Amino acid sequence: MCTRIKKCPPEGGRYNTAPTNQPMLVSPVLQCYKKNMDKAAAALSPAEFRRHLFYETSHSPSLAELVGYEKAKEIIDFCFIANPYYPTPAMLRDLQDNFPNLIKSYPSSNPASSQKHLAAVLHVNPDHLIIGNGATELIVLINTTLIDRIAVPVPTFGEYIEKLKDQRDAELYALNPDERYTLHLPHYLEWARKRGLKSLLIINPGNPTGQLFSLEEMTDFLSQAKDMEMVIVDESFIDFAGEKIPSLLQDAGRFSNLLLIRSMSKHCGVPGLRLGYCYSENLYMLNHMRQFIPTWNVNTLAQYFLSLLPATDADYHVGRKRLIGDVRWLYDSLKAIRGIDVYPTGANFVLFKIESGMTAAELQGRLLSDHMLYVRDCSNKIGMDQFHIRVASQGREKDAKLVSALQTLLR
Ligand SMILES: Cc1ncc(COP(=O)(O)O)c(C=O)c1O
Repeated sequence: MCTRIKKCPPEGGRYNTAPTNQPMLVSPVLQCYKKNMDKAAAALSPAEFRRHLFYETSHSPSLAELVGYEKAKEIIDFCFIANPYYPTPAMLRDLQDNFPNLIKSYPSSNPASSQKHLAAVLHVNPDHLIIGNGATELIVLINTTLIDRIAVPVPTFGEYIEKLKDQRDAELYALNPDERYTLHLPHYLEWARKRGLKSLLIINPGNPTGQLFSLEEMTDFLSQAKDMEMVIVDESFIDFAGEKIPSLLQDAGRFSNLLLIRSMSKHCGVPGLRLGYCYSENLYMLNHMRQFIPTWNVNTLAQYFLSLLPATDADYHVGRKRLIGDVRWLYDSLKAIRGIDVYPTGANFVLFKIESGMTAAELQGRLLSDHMLYVRDCSNKIGMDQFHIRVASQGREKDAKLVSALQTLLR
């Protein structure tokens, strides 16, 4: 059973992104920890760590922001959801060699050649792609220029409910914690119709749950949802869903209301370059968005990186498949630990629930202070309780350290 949890923020205000059963601290906390960077760089107590980190944002702050660039190198960051095997070392060297020229040049103001490079590895029509400064730029653009009200299953990736013209525009469909936050597509569609909604979001695989819908489930759903004006399907993690990628990209031509979004931070492992894209058969929607895209939104380094994609595509798929193997190992190893319920995943991360009574905040603090491991406490996500941790695979060797630390702490 789904209940509507929170429609409106306080008058003129933002959603309270803290869980309802916890006190909310607001932005002075952020200012406080920025001012006290040195103090933060010293060992933080779990309580301090908690206070500084999560209540002022629905994202996890970067480690560098929290403890400084130097200290961050000593900590393994499992919040970081990105492919550790790509770009290859040769690509990184290539980027480094070209760095001085690239940062002294303006990016191309014509996106056509970048679209061509990307389309070559996705096997799609380049004219139907828009490349953004991270998927986040496109999400904000869609939310502010294309839709009025949108159905969003929660918990979710925060930008979908925070960056709207008016925060009342997101209608939140609360997933049930007792069902591991599982999304049931037919019920979701029925719920949206009853509320008169014309736009829907699905993240596949889901973030933070990892829940995966097969290609067949998605095309069945889209066939049922043709009365919707727009169905946004965020496939940022789909490349890790299986050796054969169950993406809708090749089926997009059948659904004129479908807008696919993908973050390259995740599958290509380049969050710092800021690259994401959307794809649709619907040129009307795309052209409308294009009017609002700033010229030079994709920087020179990112454009150069895109030019390397076709020649390195085989390496990409080798790394992608290796990471799929790592995630399977991580999942199986976590499943063997007592005191946590590990959720099935189709992504490169795993969500688990702590069942021993310890909160996610406590476990996060212990992992950081005792083991130098940083994991995502999901308590500040709207619709999620205080007991969920998300960990993204960082490769077998690092994942093994996490598994062993969890075995010790949850004994
Ligand atoms: C589902 C989903 N979509 C999009 C993004 C945004 O990615 P970026 O702006 O780095 O491309 C994220 C980031 O975590 C995400 O989880």
